[in-house]
Amino acid sequence: MSFTLRLLSWYALNGRTLPWRDVADPYRVHLSEAILQQTRVEQGRGYYLAFVERFPTVEALAAADDDEVMALWAGLGYYSRARNLLAAARAVVARGGYPSDAEGLARLPGVGAYTAAAIASFAFGQRVAAVDGNAYRVLARVFGLSASVATAAGRREFAQLAAHLVAEAQSASRFNSAMMDFGATVCVPCVGAERCVVCPMADVCVARAEGRQAELPVRGRAVGVRVRRMALVVVRCGDEVLMRRRAGDDIWRGLYEPVVVELSADPARALDEKTARKQVEEAGAAAELPATPSALMEACAALRGLGGAGRWTLLRRGVRHALTHRLLVADFWSVCLSPACKGVAEALLAEGYAWKSSAARRGLGVPRLVALLMEAEEAEGA
Ligand code: ADE
Repeated sequence: MSFTLRLLSWYALNGRTLPWRDVADPYRVHLSEAILQQTRVEQGRGYYLAFVERFPTVEALAAADDDEVMALWAGLGYYSRARNLLAAARAVVARGGYPSDAEGLARLPGVGAYTAAAIASFAFGQRVAAVDGNAYRVLARVFGLSASVATAAGRREFAQLAAHLVAEAQSASRFNSAMMDFGATVCVPCVGAERCVVCPMADVCVARAEGRQAELPVRGRAVGVRVRRMALVVVRCGDEVLMRRRAGDDIWRGLYEPVVVELSADPARALDEKTARKQVEEAGAAAELPATPSALMEACAALRGLGGAGRWTLLRRGVRHALTHRLLVADFWSVCLSPACKGVAEALLAEGYAWKSSAARRGLGVPRLVALLMEAEEAEGA
């Protein structure tokens, strides 16, 4: 029996029930794929349902307020996905609907070859293979393909094999769903012998025959990691905290942040991940970050006006947070101003920060590190 027939027979009995399965609405397929790009199915499910409830159609999403979309996305990370999804929804509405083929879909913001193929097959019944990380793993192992998925030439080899296999399937949509489920539940990244024992491909699998499951798929070298050190400061007056929406072409774009003082010893230097982590361990997580209020004010001109007006507290030191290609190391501070001294924050207002009450802060999308800061500040004040 061919690979495709084995896969589809396996799927008929073992396919997962997921809220975006067998949905032919291109918007819902697009939304689910945007969420699942870097997120596990279990985590993505709740976000998908919340988005569909709040924005049931592409028109509803296109008309949405940017901040509301970012707030609904908060916690999923990789926020460029949310910005692209919104931009794509607006482009779709402007052109009068989704393009119905993979080439047209791939021209939408944030839609790469994989997502375009997923929408084209799930929503428009096109016979195209959606080749994601699951598919690379399954194909590399079963067929013993050792081309690197990190190179364009390697990815082309996988795409050609997948195109050949999907052509044998009656339904590309079922083929693609089957590859995702098979990769997620049987041919998993971390191999346990028992999964190979129940695998319908076991007798033809090259990786199993050669004991190379752990080596395949071959990946190229990881991109460098930059260590970024920063102090996050909650400037509070009563119920209000200074926050601003982060702009620029950097981390956290579109999300809200408190006063951030960034100190990067060598921001241009990228290290491999192991070295970056080791350096942070060895140097002491917070080394090079100011450890006193006056040193902090020295490092940030806009904070200087606060001087001795507030009550300063160092909440946490050396909190680490990993993003793709970045390792953030942060100290958490709070400074509490009395209402009479609120005016000393003038220089911060000039830098775009604004006072936000606790009610106003609830609707704001914040990065994970800022959510941790707010929790630490609340715990300290409690
Ligand atoms: N991972 C990415 N897209 C998926 C989908 N549509 N179903 C299950 N897992 C996925």
